[in-house]
Amino acid sequence: MIPLLLLLSLNAASSSGNTDIHYIVAFPENIAYYHPSTAQNLIYVTALNDDTDVDMNSDVHEYRKHDNMHSGRTEAWSFNENVELQKSDESNRLFKVKSDKKIAISVVSAKNGSVQTALIIPNDKLGQKYFIPPVPNIPKTTTNVTLEVTERQPFKLIILNTDKENKVAIEGSSNVSLAASKVAHVFLTSSTGNVVTSEHPVAVIFGHTCAIRQDCTCGLLYAMLPPANDEPLKYYIPTVVTKDVENDTYILLSDEGSTRQQKFNPGDPQVQTAGTAILYQPGLLLNLIPETDFATCFFIRAISDNGNFPDFNNYAVIVVHKDKTEGVHIGESPVESADWKPLTSTDYVSAKVKLQGSTKYVVWHPSSKMAVYFMGDKDDTLFGNPATVLSTVADYRGCVLTPEVIEIGDAKTWQDSVGYCEHQSTTKSLLSLSTNELQAHIFSKINQETYPDHQAVWIGMRRSALSGQHYWLNKDKANETNWDDGEPGAVEEGQCTVMSVESGKWSDEDCCVKVPPVCYTPPVLFPLT
Ligand SMILES: *[C@@H]1O[C@H](CO)[C@@H](O)[C@H](O)[C@H]1NC(C)=O
Ligand SMILES: *[C@@H]1O[C@H](CO)[C@@H](O)[C@H](O)[C@H]1NC(C)=O
Ligand SMILES: *[C@@H]1O[C@H](CO)[C@@H](O)[C@H](O)[C@H]1NC(C)=O
Ligand SMILES: *[C@@H]1O[C@H](CO)[C@@H](O)[C@H](O)[C@H]1NC(C)=O
Ligand SMILES: *[C@@H]1O[C@H](CO)[C@@H](O)[C@H](O)[C@H]1NC(C)=O
Repeated sequence: MIPLLLLLSLNAASSSGNTDIHYIVAFPENIAYYHPSTAQNLIYVTALNDDTDVDMNSDVHEYRKHDNMHSGRTEAWSFNENVELQKSDESNRLFKVKSDKKIAISVVSAKNGSVQTALIIPNDKLGQKYFIPPVPNIPKTTTNVTLEVTERQPFKLIILNTDKENKVAIEGSSNVSLAASKVAHVFLTSSTGNVVTSEHPVAVIFGHTCAIRQDCTCGLLYAMLPPANDEPLKYYIPTVVTKDVENDTYILLSDEGSTRQQKFNPGDPQVQTAGTAILYQPGLLLNLIPETDFATCFFIRAISDNGNFPDFNNYAVIVVHKDKTEGVHIGESPVESADWKPLTSTDYVSAKVKLQGSTKYVVWHPSSKMAVYFMGDKDDTLFGNPATVLSTVADYRGCVLTPEVIEIGDAKTWQDSVGYCEHQSTTKSLLSLSTNELQAHIFSKINQETYPDHQAVWIGMRRSALSGQHYWLNKDKANETNWDDGEPGAVEEGQCTVMSVESGKWSDEDCCVKVPPVCYTPPVLFPLT
């Protein structure tokens, strides 16, 4: 008996430990590691839930942590000293972030006007196979490549290893053996193929230390590659991004057995691939968001109002169905002044909305999925990345972290229904329907189509025996009502309330009649501001 018990407790211990979420981050060499300007490297972590504990470990920086972060709280870890990767084959300049609950992580790498940003995905979403995009044509950078001058070095891959000793195979190039938590650099040559595979998951950065931009300066240029997919995915390219540099914009595509670099054509703003799809324009490599990753709620940690980045413009770039633009919200307000531009020959439109006055933005839609990018610029500096997806559930109340739960129980009296719902969990109760919006929302979920075997259900409204007034169980004001014609009737017709599954309207009913109750747990929402 004893060994079995021990085994059980060991299992319990390890499974609670497994709930931690791990991330790896590295800061690519920016301009040149020996450049005299001070680097500004930032990791932004945002808690999605209350009581979130996050910490950061690295060989090249002292341990950092934030405990008990509440939902919506953002913390920045800023590394001014030289923590960025240098021109080396293997490095320990890796940051490991660990969280006990879901968080959003983004990073900023900045040095004297050279700024790039990226979204970091958790280690369990990293891949063992990546498709390397074709190297874009950059006059003066890729036309006369040499290792001697940083702005004319070849493009490279930076491979970040997770916690296991690893072997990474790069098609057409020498293989790399990587110790746990190490970083490798691989220059791309004309003989390098387009596939990276590894024994264990890795993160792969594609880019250049100092690629020439529009006005002849050079700056860091990179994208975190998305792991390879099995299915071909569809991408809608937000035309608004490319307004000024139409002729310098390329879509870099890479999949099994082929790479393509196509000039961006605003007349045909969609591509399909089972591999990598990245938009390039001078200074920017932007991972495109596949239609399957469209979502209802996104989070952006902007850098505009950070004292370190004065005068930087920050934007949300949004792609949404052309009939759904009215529902796009930033924070509590609908986006009103956006200049929606059609994506030719698709049902989508896109707009670039300036972000001002805050550092944190929630971009959400009550009824439709969309794509949202964070972008920014200043002079010839350009940066951007997909925004963090917070939710794929549509809800008129905002950004749903945990969806609502509706459960219809077996028929019982009103009083038994109250106990039945509350017994199930502390957040569940017999449904109160205190606003017209909630009434319409619930009726869209509980109606003749969804519950054809029901006629009426108990809801959490009752008439007070003392005052004769109706009240809600959750103590909300009972001023927005949905009584059927002629309801509520006289006191003797019943003190409790049912909702009709046919019409959504209410009638009073004898509390001792047996009717199925609606037990309800409201959704958990992310704070909008
Ligand atoms: C930083 O950039 C500015 C122009 O943006 C330039 O004048 C300055 O010399 C640069 N600083 C260094 C240390 O190179
Ligand atoms: C390439 O670089 C070499 C050495 O820096 C130079 O001699 C040559 O003229 C360059 N070629 C072009 C086409 O720029
Ligand atoms: C790299 O590894 C792959 C798969 O393990 C192998 O097929 C290939 O021959 C290796 N390439 C070199 C250059 O060693
Ligand atoms: C792009 O090139 C086309 C054809 O060469 C030209 O008509 C158009 O004006 C150019 N657009 C921009 C923004 O320079
Ligand atoms: C009901 O009362 C609440 C709180 O006082 C108020 O915000 C809401 O507008 C009222 N609704 C109606 C229909 O009067």
